[in-house]
Amino acid sequence: MSADRGHTKPAVLAFTDVVEEYPSTPPVRALDGVSFEITRGELLAIAGPSGSGKSTLLHVMGTLDRPTSGEVMVAGHDESALSDAELSGLRARHIGFVFQQFHLLNGFTSLDNVADGALYGGGKLSDRRARPRNDSQGGTRPSRRP
Ligand SMILES: Nc1ncnc2c1ncn2[C@@H]1O[C@H](COP(=O)(O)OP(=O)(O)O)[C@@H](O)[C@H]1O
Ligand SMILES: [Mg+2]
Repeated sequence: MSADRGHTKPAVLAFTDVVEEYPSTPPVRALDGVSFEITRGELLAIAGPSGSGKSTLLHVMGTLDRPTSGEVMVAGHDESALSDAELSGLRARHIGFVFQQFHLLNGFTSLDNVADGALYGGGKLSDRRARPRNDSQGGTRPSRRP
């Protein structure tokens, strides 16, 4: 499938018949044939009752989990065709996560916790440290530990 199905703007994310099942007896089908497209500049909110599959959908959208079946295209790339390392690069270049928890690494400074976020985007540690240092939003205590 092409990520651009006649739209003027190509899809940044496209799901086709995505199924996600958790292995149990019987299996839990958290996503049951989900299809949609998001184009550049579009905003999407996902709402639903507890247990309806929101977190599962976000994990598959973020390529943190692979679907049981169906197709997930991110920025024109078929995630099923990518290796783990390639998926990490795709996430670094095209996907941003804001987690409910901070997920900070204990024992690392706040500066390095920020710099590690850019690890898979490539670049030297000194460059990754320089960016938050130069950013006025970067905080005033870069060497503090969580
Ligand atoms: N790791 C798991 N193993 C088995 N079932 C799971 C797992 N994670 C979620 N589920 C089940 O999948 C369904 C969707 O869960 P989830 O995506 O967490 O929904 P939501 O985020 O909307 O509350 C629920 O029935 C939930 O119990
Ligand atoms: Mg949830």
